[in-house]
Amino acid sequence: MKHISIAIDGPAGAGKSTIAKKVAKDLGFIYVDTGAMYRAMALYFIQNAIKADEAARIEAACDHINVSIQYIDQVQQVLLNGENVNHLIRTDEVGQMASASSVNPKVRLKLVELQRQLALDQDVVMDGRDIGTYVLPSADIKIYMTAGSRERAHRRYKEFLEKGMECNLDQIEKDILVRDERDMNRDFAPLKQAEDAVYLDTSNMTIEEVVTKIIELYNKKKEN
Ligand code: DC
Repeated sequence: MKHISIAIDGPAGAGKSTIAKKVAKDLGFIYVDTGAMYRAMALYFIQNAIKADEAARIEAACDHINVSIQYIDQVQQVLLNGENVNHLIRTDEVGQMASASSVNPKVRLKLVELQRQLALDQDVVMDGRDIGTYVLPSADIKIYMTAGSRERAHRRYKEFLEKGMECNLDQIEKDILVRDERDMNRDFAPLKQAEDAVYLDTSNMTIEEVVTKIIELYNKKKEN
């Protein structure tokens, strides 16, 4: 049986993971967070003092990295060489390193097979940067989700404050813009809207409105 896949791509802080998680829960699908996989690889590079511009060292390190995932209570856990690193990958440092190291095709190709296999095995909502364009070009529904950079920075700012982390709104916006620029302009599988993706600017939409819109698209597709 062919499984259903919903691909959600977009820039940092657009709300992809919040929305993807809810859509997956409502439809009974698995949520696959591909950014977390790039973050796990980035963590390895940081832990081994490998810099983002050291392409040869990054490529050599790829042979020593194994990324896999598990689900505990339906929450994705990323394992880096067998160790659960979920609690270590949500920092800005790891996010920037993930963006910088993921320009390397060897890093990307290491994760793409895992991502494709997950979608072959079950119904998924998968989010990332290149899901609709490269990882799952035949996805049943494709969404390109974005919002203005100030709005995205605000959302991140609120998240950090809720976690009791110190942060600065202007700095967060700057970091987001640096990441967008790199993610959109790399040579291999850059972030861009797939031709058949639905464009959703969530700047003035509530989470519920976005979730409802995607489920409507899915139901419409099912009818045809
Ligand atoms: O979604 P995120 O913030 O967790 O992603 C971190 C970085 O990983 C992002 O800036 C670029 C990279 N990434 C990617 O290149 N392709 C993906 N499918 C997912 C993430």
